[in-house]
Amino acid sequence: MAILEICRVGDPILRQKAEPVVKVSQKIKDLLADMAATMYAAPGVGLAAPQVGVSKRIIVVDVGEGLLELVNPVIVSQSESATATEGCLSVPGVVGDVTRAYEVVVRGLDKKGRQVEIAATDFLARALQHEIDHLDGILFIDKAKNIREVTEEEERE
Ligand code: NI
Repeated sequence: MAILEICRVGDPILRQKAEPVVKVSQKIKDLLADMAATMYAAPGVGLAAPQVGVSKRIIVVDVGEGLLELVNPVIVSQSESATATEGCLSVPGVVGDVTRAYEVVVRGLDKKGRQVEIAATDFLARALQHEIDHLDGILFIDKAKNIREVTEEEERE
């Protein structure tokens, strides 16, 4: 496993639409492991492959309920909405208030290439939506209100 360098806002890869993964190969499994290690080291609660310079549809999330590794994640349903504070490892130093669905169902492949479906609420739902946005070149600052500076301790994601 390796700790990867995290791309920052201004890097064009963060604005590209990431490519779907055709096969969950050993290379993809290795990338998932490196992304998880990078997320934990940051520390953060989620990371998308474009943030480590790979324009593929892969995310990792851990909001304290265990590691989720998803390939080609898609939101298949969502309901209600809630506003909460977010930050991003690629946009250090600021947070903002983002309105997102409170509940989502996300479908994708796990690291063994099996189809999985995850029903999430609240902070986990928020983290999944934030990371999936990264796959479409969207950053939380595009959606946030009241963007403000924070101390390093307050940063997350
Ligand atoms: Ni982010």
